[in-house]
Amino acid sequence: MTGRTHVVFVSGEPGIGKSRLLQEMAIRAEEVGAIVLRGGASEAEGMPPYLPFLEALGGYIRAAPREQLRTQAGPMAPILATILPELAVVLGNLPDSYPLPADQARLRLYEAVGMFLASLTSTAPLVLLLDDLQWADPASLDLLRHVVRQQSTARLLILGAYRAGELASNLALERTLLDLNRARLLTSLTIGPLVEEEIAALAAVRLGLPVEH
Ligand SMILES: Nc1ncnc2c1ncn2[C@@H]1O[C@H](COP(=O)(O)OP(=O)(O)O)[C@@H](O)[C@H]1O
Ligand SMILES: [Mg+2]
Repeated sequence: MTGRTHVVFVSGEPGIGKSRLLQEMAIRAEEVGAIVLRGGASEAEGMPPYLPFLEALGGYIRAAPREQLRTQAGPMAPILATILPELAVVLGNLPDSYPLPADQARLRLYEAVGMFLASLTSTAPLVLLLDDLQWADPASLDLLRHVVRQQSTARLLILGAYRAGELASNLALERTLLDLNRARLLTSLTIGPLVEEEIAALAAVRLGLPVEH
């Protein structure tokens, strides 16, 4: 909300409560007026690159009023539509973008996603929720790094989660953590099991009365 893009990654073992924590944080962010976009990586075979972003942005594109979307996507619409064809469906015929060599096209795409996200933050602070990043493809992580660096002064919070034990098997994720950390753009939260007092407190809240322990 202060206009400094930041990344928070939650890590811990499977089942410890990472997704739930992200969800609870998203609810609180929505309560104070933020837009929340949700996406996640998948271990399923045959998933396209950028899947977490496709889910998050696809959800927004399907929900947003058309004219607002047209303004927000602006001249980036044809570039965004290369990975988000639903944008072309919603906005109608888009002008062809010039064919570019693959590297250039990728950079343009990163810029377009960054600018689109930044334009969303002009209406409200934005939380981009990216779950299960232990399975994230290198392209998604490159895109993430690019967006954070390029849009460093947006009202943007990227809230991610990954399984701590699987970090070593995703080199791109390891590199992303190092890189964001070095740039002081990352806050890492490790979550572990609750201790006895915390379990008692949780139970007391749920039951509405104190519990013996
Ligand atoms: N604070 C909490 N209170 C109640 N249930 C929780 C809490 N945190 C997690 N859970 C439940 O524990 C299960 C595992 O949590 P989940 O967030 O899916 O774990 P992870 O994403 O780390 O694998 C889910 O059923 C979730 O709803
Ligand atoms: Mg989870």
